[in-house]
Order: sequence, then C-alpha cells, then structure tokens
Amino acid sequence: MNTRPIGIFDSGLGGLTILKTLSRALPKEKLIYFGDTVNVPYGSKSKKAVTRFSLDIAKFLESQHVKLIIVACNTASALALTELQKKISVPVIGVIEPGAAQAARSTKNNRVAILATEATVHSQAYPRALQRLNKQIRTYQQACPVFVPLIEEGWIHGPAGKLIIADYLASAAKSGADTIILGCTHYPVIKHLIAKQVGKKVHLVDSAEVLTAEVKNLLTRTKQLNTNGRGSLKIYASDDPARFKRLAKNILGRELNRVYLKKLN
Ligand code: DGL
Repeated sequence: MNTRPIGIFDSGLGGLTILKTLSRALPKEKLIYFGDTVNVPYGSKSKKAVTRFSLDIAKFLESQHVKLIIVACNTASALALTELQKKISVPVIGVIEPGAAQAARSTKNNRVAILATEATVHSQAYPRALQRLNKQIRTYQQACPVFVPLIEEGWIHGPAGKLIIADYLASAAKSGADTIILGCTHYPVIKHLIAKQVGKKVHLVDSAEVLTAEVKNLLTRTKQLNTNGRGSLKIYASDDPARFKRLAKNILGRELNRVYLKKLN
C-alpha cells in the first residue's frame, strides 16, 4: 500500500470532471488538484507554452510527494505528456489514450467525431491514437474554442451557449459519426446539452470512467492502492482561489472548504 497522494491538474475547472469520478471510485486516496487559472485557456496556446506550464505544475506536485500524476487536460496530454513522462520521477497518465480506447470500442460504423480545443485538434493526437487502435476508423475533428471560456465563466447554460453548441455540432453531425469524443475535460459539464443536440443514437465519450479504471488497475497492480486511508482533497489554483471555489461547486455539487493560492514561476 502507498498512502502518498495522487496529483491531478488542468488549466482550470475542467479536470474536476475527472476528479469527481476518481474520488468516488477511490474514496480512500488523498487527492491534490491544481487548476492553472492564471494561464487558462491552454487550448489557444503554443506547445512550448503548454509544456512549460505543465512541467511547472508537475514539478510542484512532485514536491508534494505524489505517487502518480494525472494530466486531467486533453490539451496538456496531447502537447506535453511525453515531456512530462521524461522529466518527472513518478508515473504520469494522460486522458487521450483512455478516451480513444473507449471510442474505438463504442463505434459501430467506424466514424468518430472529436470535439476538442484548437491545440488538441492541431496536434492530431486523437486521430493518431484511434488509428493505432483500428485502421478502419475515420475521424472528424471540430475545434470548439469558445466552450472553455464560457464554461469557466459559468455562462454556457444561457441562450448564447445554446446557439454556440448548435453551431459547433452541426458539422460534427454531418460527419455521420455514431460516437463523439468530448476531447476536453471541460466539456462533460455540458454533456447533457450536447446529448440533447445530437440525439440518443450518438454515443458521447468522456475519459473520466475509463481513466479511473486505468488508475485503479495501475495502483492495484503495483500495490500502491490506498486501502485504509481516510481520503482527502486539497485544491490549489494559480489565480483567484475564491472564484475557483465558487465555480467548482457547480461541477462537484458540493462546497469546498478552501482553495489555496499557489503561484508558479
Ligand atoms: N480542459 C482542458 C482540456 O481538456 C483545457 C482546456 C483549455 O484550457 O483550453 O483540453
């Protein structure tokens, strides 16, 4: 058994969609979450910038003696995972491979649409991961740059959000995909709105469940699962922790005790 914490990070609130599923499945683990609110959104930034932010955060988490780091951000997983795995001394897991694996299992007509940030789309990380799993799969990608700011602002549920969702999904629907990957950890916040738009026949994939299963497997296999701890959650934000605390409630469905401010270089 290993009682050290698990580190999780994202550019902002999105990774909380992963944290929520993970903490339900692994209630005895200590979790440390970092939301890089000073640099959000990552999706419109360069590979160099996202890699630098990700490395700074991972090093901070490493200094907190985590046993594992989860990159709960598709953009950072697509752009910086390899670099993190090279430079960080504990295992680092991203969200792209688990999401792609679930989509490959789910599609019946071998057409998969991917909704993601601009940076994730340009990286081609999902089409490549899907091709490695099944060469027959055809992919269609749609960058949705406005989703993250609207979700971070808590504005997506209004009429403007509805119009933007309809617009982004119109072309994805034309692709004929029976499976859509929510390729950004912010998007599960609006999964119900997307589902309404695309209808019941289209399967929506978010990586939280499959990633959680992978983490549980890894910790069990390596005898690092915390089986009789009490479980805890400590959250850091790189800017405006009070705002993060207020908005996090919408995703986690509960009030957080405290969000700590942690500025990185
Ligand atoms: N939630 C992140 C992702 O999965 C980052 C979004 C952003 O900051 O643009 O890509």
